[in-house]
Amino acid sequence: MAHRIGYFVGSLSSTSINRTLANALIKLAPDTLEFTEIPIDGLPLYSQDYDADYPPEGRALKEAIDASDGILFVSPEYNRSIPGPLKNAIDWGSRPWGTNSFARKPTGIIGASPGGIGTAVMQSSMRSVLSFLDAPQLNAPEAYINFDPDAYGEDGEVKDERTAGFLRHYMDEYAAFVQRVLDANAQGHIGDDDPESRK
Ligand code: FNR
Repeated sequence: MAHRIGYFVGSLSSTSINRTLANALIKLAPDTLEFTEIPIDGLPLYSQDYDADYPPEGRALKEAIDASDGILFVSPEYNRSIPGPLKNAIDWGSRPWGTNSFARKPTGIIGASPGGIGTAVMQSSMRSVLSFLDAPQLNAPEAYINFDPDAYGEDGEVKDERTAGFLRHYMDEYAAFVQRVLDANAQGHIGDDDPESRK
């Protein structure tokens, strides 16, 4: 059965290398996954003042997460952390209080940088955020992509077979992880009837 994957690109740049990476991952993913981007560029800056009456942009974001079987984050690292627009989107999805849309969603985190550590510190920050939000994360393989522009074509084809093999393996493992979490979720959970457990 196909699984619906909502993906976030954590960059607003028109020349984003992480968007190139996202396009490559979609091309290399197993055909059991269907991808829909969850856009982050139209969101106001989150404030708790919105909780009483979530605006359409916030509701659309939550509906897109709710409609996804799994979530994939493809993001740059900004100043050794999560780019502001992506963190803002996550904050929107996590609220209003008691309606955290990320709870129990299988997630993957991957990112590219021209630098050697390939978004490792951003990914570490993301793991902390997603753990707090009760979102299971693919732990291995880790994917810290030191972006080589010559390895990618314009519409996301990967020209370098070693890179393609690594990214294909990542997406195969991500697909298997999504299936495992969905299977576990289907078993039910202690506290399923208790909204306090989904804070
Ligand atoms: C960066 N960049 C960067 N790179 C990195 O490896 N670690 C970092 O902490 C940062 N910090 C950072 C902050 C800001 C504000 C900018 C604009 C850039 C460089 C970054 O990896 C590079 O610009 C990528 O091209 C950004 O990804 P996208 O937007 O091309 O997908």
